[in-house]
Amino acid sequence: MSDLLDVKNYVSTTEELLSYTSIPPQPKIVSDINNEINRPNADLQTVSDFISQDVTMSSRLLKVVNSAFYGLREKVDSVHRALSLIGIKNFKNIILASSLREAYGSKDANFEKFWNHSMSTASIASRIAQKVNFHSPEQAYLAGLFHDCGVPILLKSYKDYADIVDDALSVVPVASLSGNSKSIIGVEHERYKTHHCSVGYLIAKKWNMSEIVCNAIWHHHYVKIDIHSDEVTKKLVAIVILADYMSSLISSIEGGGIAVDPESEWAKMHEKVISELSMNVDSVIDLKEDLLSMVQ
Ligand SMILES: [Fe+2]
Ligand SMILES: [Fe+2]
Repeated sequence: MSDLLDVKNYVSTTEELLSYTSIPPQPKIVSDINNEINRPNADLQTVSDFISQDVTMSSRLLKVVNSAFYGLREKVDSVHRALSLIGIKNFKNIILASSLREAYGSKDANFEKFWNHSMSTASIASRIAQKVNFHSPEQAYLAGLFHDCGVPILLKSYKDYADIVDDALSVVPVASLSGNSKSIIGVEHERYKTHHCSVGYLIAKKWNMSEIVCNAIWHHHYVKIDIHSDEVTKKLVAIVILADYMSSLISSIEGGGIAVDPESEWAKMHEKVISELSMNVDSVIDLKEDLLSMVQ
């Protein structure tokens, strides 16, 4: 496993992949908004003006803001109003989500599965972050949103990746070419000499995500979270791992995904992850009930 986590083993293969699948750089609108947000006296009006210039972006934003996730009582129909209601950091995340979707520009069924899994993991990660008092639920949302962003690149690059895409979007061991069951990144490595964590890590770097978010993407299939000496990274990785599991669990309960281990089994294998979040099996079960009551 340790070789699978060594970035330098993957940089050249992954860079090559990215060069011919041509993932566009982070869109200009995101950097324009970032520049404005990072100014000492950030101006909401300037930010909403940037967004309003982009019709597709504005309509997508209003759709997300008016969705059940934000639970707003009023229907919002102006970008400026939406911005003042949900705050600039949430707004930035919606823009990134919208841009990520645009960048891949694919509408096939596997891409839709990836997208639903990413959006659900992002919302769950932000909810867990609030529960465990992580300092930035927005950062957790972002890490959840991008955690599997390497998957569409592998889908575009290798025809037979479609055979294992469901496993990649889940959290179960997969049968490897040699017949043993392995983690999904072990199987990807065996087939393609790269894996979706390394591809996702490099995409997130290209999109100027913070080092912490990039690291969470890189390590989201590695349960030994003790390797992270930085406390914030350790907690964020734990949040993403739990959110990834919850997202897969809920989609399997709803009949849209493959079956995953029940909570008690999962918790046994992820002891460090849940204790990092001061949780236990019971609180993991409570979290599932809580999330299910929101989607049903
Ligand atoms: Fe993954
Ligand atoms: Fe995932």
